Amino acid sequence: MTTKAFVIGHPIAHSRSPLIHGTWLAEHGIDGTYEAIDVPPDALESFFERLRGGEFAGGNVTIPHKQAVFALCDSVDELARKIGAVNTLVARDGKVHGTNTDYLGFLGNLDAKAPGWSDRLDCALVLGAGGAARAVLVALQSRNIPIVLLNRTRETGDRLASELGPEGFTVGTLENINASAPHAGLVVNTTSIGMHGTRFDQFDISLLRPGTLVTDIVYSPLETPLLADARARGLPTVDGLGMLLHQAVPGFAAWFGVQPTVTPDLRARIEATLDH
Ligand code: ATR
Repeated sequence: MTTKAFVIGHPIAHSRSPLIHGTWLAEHGIDGTYEAIDVPPDALESFFERLRGGEFAGGNVTIPHKQAVFALCDSVDELARKIGAVNTLVARDGKVHGTNTDYLGFLGNLDAKAPGWSDRLDCALVLGAGGAARAVLVALQSRNIPIVLLNRTRETGDRLASELGPEGFTVGTLENINASAPHAGLVVNTTSIGMHGTRFDQFDISLLRPGTLVTDIVYSPLETPLLADARARGLPTVDGLGMLLHQAVPGFAAWFGVQPTVTPDLRARIEATLDH
């Protein structure tokens, strides 16, 4: 029988997940499908009934459903609760389990592109405290890395740090960026700055130590102004596309029973769909 998986969202047309999973299905010769399904919020509950009925092995959840599905899942793991979002569903025996693989995507990307990055890392400078920051912070915590969290709005940063920490966190605003820069072994941008060619105006990248790794979870454009500036100064950089690719690995393994690999070919296929 064909094993079916999905990504649900509203709208869903721009999701790159069907291309990622479709590539792996073809590569492994699996009798399976992965389809993008537009599910408006008022149809989410009935979609879960289909899921419990055994029509699908599971799937991904994207905007605007990542929080709403908490209430509909039969179980949600601790990690997804901490991150505050479910992005992966696994259906088994009439029950739906929710998890979040974004934190593994963040770790998998850096482990692949900058092996050893977390060894002896004394300070990670995380920019932004929105929804996307949570998976990054949980990932860094899992490797016991001290975090400096800087956000435009101080209260949002404080709230997030107290929720996830508070041990291991130092919180500030983006005005502290140049004071924090010399201490960082890793810089992660989780804000939307960079998406439209925008940059951190006040950030003097020359204050970063040689060898500090700079990464961005924005992947469109692939090389954000932050990454371009870092690369121009000779600093190692990792773009955000790998996080998207690596977060897909655990879902595929759970639904189709095969551990897929993030290959240069897969990356090139997805890269071809991005704006340059
Ligand atoms: P996401 O889920 O993508 O993280 P979000 O929850 O809206 O989106 O969070 C956006 C993040 O980018 C926040 O940290 C936001 O800072 P505030 O908490 O101060 O709003 C940050 N951000 C967005 N635009 C910004 C800008 N122009 N300058 C600085 N920070 C910005």
